[in-house]
Amino acid sequence: MNTQGALNLWGEGGLISLETQLSASWLASEGVTLNERPHEFTLSLDAPSAVTELRWGVRSQGGEEALVEAPLDPANPLITLSNLDLTEGVYELYAEVRYGDRDLFEATLAINSQRVTTWSEDISPLHQARCATCHSGTGARDLSDAQRWLNDIDDILLVTRMQSMPIGAPPLTAEEIDLIERWKLAGGLE
Ligand code: HEC
Repeated sequence: MNTQGALNLWGEGGLISLETQLSASWLASEGVTLNERPHEFTLSLDAPSAVTELRWGVRSQGGEEALVEAPLDPANPLITLSNLDLTEGVYELYAEVRYGDRDLFEATLAINSQRVTTWSEDISPLHQARCATCHSGTGARDLSDAQRWLNDIDDILLVTRMQSMPIGAPPLTAEEIDLIERWKLAGGLE
C-alpha cells in the first residue's frame, strides 16, 4: 500500500497497482429462502489474488454477534446452507474481506430460513387427505405414522412420482412431492 492508498501486487504482467475501491458481493438476490435443499452462495471478489483475509458468517438480522463464522477460500469462495443449519428466521449472511492491508470490506445478503418440514405439520395432513383411506392398517400396507412413512419413503416417492398412487384419485402435485422429498432430506422429523 503506498501513501495514495493504491494496492500494489505482482500479477502475471508484472506489478499491478490497484487505485480503485475493491469490493465483493454475493451472487444472489436479497431475501433468498432456505429450505432443506442445500443452497449455494458464491462470493464475487474484485481481486481474488489480492485477498489477505477472508471469512464468511451468519448473524441474526439486526444482531451483532455471529452465529456461524468460518474462513473462506478466495480461490473457491462458495458456501452451502440449508434450513437445517439455521432455525426459522431472518438472517444476514456476510463476508469480510481484506485486500492487501486495506480496511475490511463487508458484503451482506439477507436470507430467510424456512421452517423445517415435519410429519405433524406437513406430511401427516397430506397422508390424511390423500392416503389414509387405504393405508391405515386395514387395507393396503400401514403407512399411518412417521416411522412407517420413513421405512417406505423410497417406495412412496417412486409410486407418487409415477402417479400410480393414490389409486383412483388425482396425482400429487409437484409441490406435494417436493415436500415429501424435503421431509426425507430433513431426516423424517416428527
Ligand atoms: C384407494 C386406495 C389407495 C390410496 C388412496 C392410496 N393407496 Fe397406496 N396402495 C393401495 C393398494 C391397494 C396397494 C397395493 C397393496 C400394498 O402394496 O399394500 C398400494 C400400494 C402402495 C405402496 C406400495 C407400492 C409397491 O410397489 O410396493 C405404496 C408405497 C403406496 N401405496 C403409497 C401410497 C401413498 C403415499 C398414497 C397417498 C399419496 C397412497 N398410496 C394412496 C391403495 C391405495
